[in-house]
Amino acid sequence: MSGELLAGDGADGPVPGDPNRAPAVRDMFARIAPGYDRANKFMSMGIDRAWRRIAIRALGDRARGDILDLCAGTMDFTAALAPTAKSIVALDFCAPMLEAGMAKIPAGANVRTVCADARELPLAGASFDAVVIGFGIRNVPEPERALAEARRVLRPGGVLVVVDFFRPTTLAQRFFAGTYNRVVLPIVGGLVTGDASAYRYLAGSMAAWYDREGFEGACTAAGFARVTGRELFPPVASLVVARVEG
Ligand SMILES: C[S@@+](CC[C@H](N)C(=O)[O-])C[C@H]1O[C@@H](n2cnc3c(N)ncnc32)[C@H](O)[C@@H]1O
Repeated sequence: MSGELLAGDGADGPVPGDPNRAPAVRDMFARIAPGYDRANKFMSMGIDRAWRRIAIRALGDRARGDILDLCAGTMDFTAALAPTAKSIVALDFCAPMLEAGMAKIPAGANVRTVCADARELPLAGASFDAVVIGFGIRNVPEPERALAEARRVLRPGGVLVVVDFFRPTTLAQRFFAGTYNRVVLPIVGGLVTGDASAYRYLAGSMAAWYDREGFEGACTAAGFARVTGRELFPPVASLVVARVEG
């Protein structure tokens, strides 16, 4: 992972790449939680929903099992999986993000929310068939610890599916990511939530992060097997799928 630190917005905002940024990241998400879904809708024009559908297809029949939605945020993955999954734990260390998503969960769905850090899961080993992480692990300092925890809680034969923005490497990725990061994220995110600095952090966090191949290597180092990745369209986000042998 690139250890590069980028300029933040001052002492109170998180700095991408800072290994001690977790409390500032949590406070930032707590601040933008009420407007997060609205901003997301404008910024992604619904494309994130298509990306999540692709990720859910990658789960195969594990989508009907016990699922952990890690860094669940406002629970878009949880809501999409709730009608078919046996059970879902939606885990995030920012309670206001989980609260902002509660209304999306259908009545009667077997969903439990847990407020905890992805680096130290208060969950039993080998208790899930699938772990999904949507646009979250990039914000976790020591993401290798979160990957090791995801590996620990998965059963043999389980699958980890990650959708995220990785550090761009190709020309096309640089073009799309550059436009998105410099224009769409801070301007639209700032206008809708009134917090442009948070969206500048999110943009900067992509540059101080793994490229997709590096992240696949981190999954392998965490004990996952058959790790594969691919670019989604438009080439801003990518999908990484990693399996537990068994
Ligand atoms: C961009 S939102 C993710 C939203 C959601 N997963 C989705 O698919 O849209 C990132 C989330 O990661 C959470 N997060 C960041 N660092 C975390 C950590 N160390 N442990 C748990 N959650 C964390 C934040 O609180 C935030 O809600």
